[in-house]
Amino acid sequence: VSDRARIAAIERAASGSVPARHTRDIGGWLARHTPEIPTKRANSVLAIAHDDAQPLEDKLAAVEEFYAARDMPARYQLSPVSEPGEIRAALTARGYLTEAPTLVQSCALSALAESLPAGMTTAITAVPSETWWETWRAGRRASGRAGPAVGALFTRIETATAFLTLALHGEPTSTAMGVLDGPWLGVFNMATLPSARRRGAGAAALRALAAWALEHGGTDAYLQVDGDNTPAVGLYETVGFTPVYEYVYLTHTST
Ligand SMILES: CC(C)(COP(=O)(O)OP(=O)(O)OC[C@H]1O[C@@H](n2cnc3c(N)ncnc32)[C@H](O)[C@@H]1OP(=O)(O)O)[C@@H](O)C(=O)NCCC(=O)NCCS
Repeated sequence: VSDRARIAAIERAASGSVPARHTRDIGGWLARHTPEIPTKRANSVLAIAHDDAQPLEDKLAAVEEFYAARDMPARYQLSPVSEPGEIRAALTARGYLTEAPTLVQSCALSALAESLPAGMTTAITAVPSETWWETWRAGRRASGRAGPAVGALFTRIETATAFLTLALHGEPTSTAMGVLDGPWLGVFNMATLPSARRRGAGAAALRALAAWALEHGGTDAYLQVDGDNTPAVGLYETVGFTPVYEYVYLTHTST
C-alpha cells in the first residue's frame, strides 16, 4: 500500500470516527457541520476526493455559502492527500489562515498489545458506561454539558467501537475509545485522572485497546495529536507510535 493510500485510508477512517451531524458532498469533498460540538474535525471540509467537473473557484464559493448559511467560517482540513493539489494555494489567495496543525501517528497493533500490569483491570463496552463518562469528564476536565452532544456523536459511528475504562487497584483512572475501520484502529478520548498520571495507566489502556482491536481483525493503530500536547506525545512515543503525516485547518477570515 502506498503512503498516499495509507494516508487517505486514515483520513477517511478518522472522519468516520467523528461523524458530523450534517454532511454535504460538494464536488467530491465532504462538507461537515455539527453545531453542538465545536471540534474542527466535525466542522470542516474533508477535501480528499475531487471531482474535476466543477471549476475549483465555484466549489470554494459553494463551501463558503454552505458555512455562511450556518453562521460558521468556511474551514478545510488539508493533508498531504488533499485534492486538487493547488487547493492550499487557492485558499491562501482567498485569505484563509492556517490553524491547529495536528500530528497523525501510527503503530502496528502487534507491537502494542500486551497483558496488563499487576493491579490494573479494564472493562470494554460497546457504548460508554456511566463510569466511562465520569472518568472521561474528570480526566479531560470537561464540563457536564459536553456529555449529551458527544454521546449523540458516538451513536453515529458505523463501525465497531470499544469504550475502555481502566482501573488501578479497583479505582477507575483512565479512558480510551477505539474505532475499528477495516484494518485501522483509531484511538480517541485517551484520558487519565490528573491525580493518577505518570503511573502507566494511559499506556496500559492503549495496550488493552490494541489487544481488543487485534482480536477483532485490526492490524494497525493511528491517532491524532496536537504537537503541543507534551504528555500525550510523550505517551505515544513511549509505546511505539511514529509520525505518518500532519494535517492543518485553513479557515476563512471575514476581514
Ligand atoms: C496523555 C495522558 C492520557 C497520559 O496518561 P498517563 O496515565 O499519565 O500516562 P502514563 O503514566 O501511562 O505515561 C506513560 C509514559 O508516557 C510519557 N508521558 C506521560 N506523561 C508525560 C508528560 N507529562 N511529559 C512527558 N512524558 C510523559 C512517559 O514516557 C510515561 O512514562 P514514565 O512515566 O515512565 O516516564 C494524560 O496526561 C491525560 O489525560 N491528559 C489530558 C487529556 C489528553 O490530552 N489526552 C490525549 C489527547 S490526544
